[in-house]
This record gives sequence, C-alpha cells and structure tokens, in this order.
Amino acid sequence: MVQKIALFNHKGGVSKTTTTFNLGWMLASKGQRVILVDSDPQCNLTGMALGEETEDDEARIQEIYNTTSNIKTGLAPAFESQPRAIEAVDCIPVQGRDDLFLLPGHVGFAEYEVTLGIAQELSGSIQALKNLPGSINDLLEKTATKFDADYILIDMSPSLGSINQNLLMISDFFWYLQLPIFSL
Ligand SMILES: Nc1ncnc2c1ncn2[C@@H]1O[C@H](COP(=O)(O)OP(=O)(O)O)[C@@H](O)[C@H]1O
Ligand SMILES: [Mg+2]
Repeated sequence: MVQKIALFNHKGGVSKTTTTFNLGWMLASKGQRVILVDSDPQCNLTGMALGEETEDDEARIQEIYNTTSNIKTGLAPAFESQPRAIEAVDCIPVQGRDDLFLLPGHVGFAEYEVTLGIAQELSGSIQALKNLPGSINDLLEKTATKFDADYILIDMSPSLGSINQNLLMISDFFWYLQLPIFSL
C-alpha cells in the first residue's frame, strides 16, 4: 500500500521542492519505488527532475509537456466533465536513478483551484460536483498501482488554497518545512 507524504509550507523558498527531490532520490536508492508529484503550477520540481539546465533542455522539456500526461491532463476527466474515467498518469523515469518517477506538473493546474474550492464547500448539494474532491486521490492511487509505488512525495505550492487543502487531507503524512535562519 502506497504511503503519501505531502511537503508543505505556505511560504516559498523553504526547500519544499529540493527536499522532495532529494528525499525521493534517497528512498529510491534504498530500493523503494517512489513517485514525485509536482502539484505546484510553477513546476520547479518538474524542471529539476527532468534536468532543466540549458536552452536545449528547455526545448526537450517543452516537448515532454506537450506530449505526456501530467497532473492536469490526468484530472481533466473530472474537472472538465469528460465522459471517461480517470486513468493513471504515464510517469516519467528520472534519469540516473532506478525506481524514481515523476508525475509532471502543469502551469494550468491552478485553473482547477476555484472549481475544487466550490466543490469542497458545496459537493453535498450539487450533484455535478460530487466527483471532484475525491479525484486527486483517485489519480494518485491509480498511478501508484500502475507503477507499483511504495511512496508518493507531493511537492506543494506555497498556498492555503483548495488544492493544498485536498492534498493534505488525502496524505498519510505531511512534512511542514522550515529552513533554519542562518546569521552570517
Ligand atoms: N538544505 C538546503 N541548504 C541550502 N540551500 C537550500 C536547501 N534546500 C533548498 N535550498 C535552496 O533554497 C532555495 C529554495 O529552495 P526550494 O526547494 O525551491 O524551496 P520551495 O520549494 O520551498 O520554494 C533554492 O535556491 C535551493 O537551492
Ligand atoms: Mg517549490
């Protein structure tokens, strides 16, 4: 059974993304199968995991964005009322580290924030919204099953919005990150 761990702080710059990547790498190096989930529309984890360093890399990563499934396309059946079931995302293997995979983020994922917020408040009374609050968990569980994952590590955006509320509710553990303040 997969364990989902959310890495959270409502501020930026406290090492959520860096810790997600390095924790995932370490767990995978110890033989665990790990999926890194980029839920931050800034997509820094996606860039880090795909090795975004040069201009050539940017073109390669753009190609990946355009052709592979990601957190937004994975949730589209629920959020865009498409008549099909949610399916596991085709995660991307992280180069150089067996057993480590990326569920890519998408800059447009933020578009689902308002809809999810309404659904979380009103889903008891509006039939069409009832599937939304459970859809992120459904996507992650199906993806974990497909990849036989032991851990899902979720890199969150710095906010207290409805997507983060949902991610914290569906996670087994969360890590509230605070970088120590150094004085030089
Ligand atoms: N343990 C660390 N020690 C020193 N610098 C770090 C550490 N973790 C992250 N950083 C640096 O801090 C900055 C913010 O880290 P990042 O992981 O992007 O934070 P967040 O995802 O919370 O916004 C980056 O420049 C990163 O390289
Ligand atoms: Mg980040």
